[in-house]
Amino acid sequence: MIMTSTPRTQVHPDPHSASQALATEVADLISSREAKQLPTVLGLATGATPIHFYEELRRLHTEHGLSFGSVITFNLDEYVGLGRQDPQSYWHFMHDQLFDHIDIHADNIHIPDGTIAEADLGQHCEAYEQAIKNAGGIDLQILGIGTTGHIGFNEPGTARDSRTGIVDLTEETRQSNAVFFNSIDDVPTKAISMGCGTILDAKQIAALAWGERKASVVQGALQGPVTPDCPASFLQEHPSATFYLDQPAANALR
Ligand code: F6R
Repeated sequence: MIMTSTPRTQVHPDPHSASQALATEVADLISSREAKQLPTVLGLATGATPIHFYEELRRLHTEHGLSFGSVITFNLDEYVGLGRQDPQSYWHFMHDQLFDHIDIHADNIHIPDGTIAEADLGQHCEAYEQAIKNAGGIDLQILGIGTTGHIGFNEPGTARDSRTGIVDLTEETRQSNAVFFNSIDDVPTKAISMGCGTILDAKQIAALAWGERKASVVQGALQGPVTPDCPASFLQEHPSATFYLDQPAANALR
C-alpha cells in the first residue's frame, strides 16, 4: 500500500483490501468509543463502491463478534419517489447489504424518506440535520465519488456550505446508476441528499473510489482546484479526509 498526505491517500492493490483496511478502522473506532461509553456515528453511502466494505463489516460481525449496538447511522441520500420496499431504494439497499445482518438498533438507522410529501420536505430535511447534531455529529463519513465529481448527490455547481435538501441528478449520474434499474427511464431525476456542508462537518471522512473510470475524477478531486465544479475537491480542505483507492483509480495522480 502507498500512502501520501493532505488529504491522505491510500492506494491498495484492489477494492477488497482497501475495504478491509477501512472496515478494520471502523471496528477500532467503535471499540475505542465504546470503551469511553460513547456511541459511534457513521455516515454511510450506497452504490457499487461500498459493497466490499459492507461485506467486510458483516464478516467482522459474524466471525469476530463486532457489535453495532452502539452505532448510529445516517445515510447520505435517497431517491425521491422510491419507498422503503422498492428494491432500488437506498433503504432497501442498506438493509440488504448491512442492517439486516448486524445487531444495529432499528431506531439508530437514519435514511432520508424519498416518499415525503413535497410540502413536508423542508421540515424533513431540517429534522435530518437536527438528528445528526443531536447524535453528536458524524464521527466518520463514508463516501463514494460520482464520475461527475459529486459527493452524496451534490452535483457540480453545488455550494460548499449546502445543507440536506432536494437535488437534481445529472444525466451522467442517472446513466451510471441505470445499471441498478431496468432502464434509464426508471432512474429517478431527483434525490434528497445531505449537503456538501453537512458532509464536510463530519469529524473524519473516508472517500472510496475503484477502477479506471474514476481515475480522472479522483485526480481532479485530489489535485485540481477546489471548486464547486467538482464537489469532491472540497475534501482537500477537510482536516481529516482519507482517499481509499485501488491502483486503477489512482492512475491519473501525479
Ligand atoms: C451514494 C452516493 C453517491 C455514490 C456515487 C458513486 O449514496 O451518495 O455519491 O457514492 O455516485 O456511485 P458508485 O459507487 O455506484 O460508483
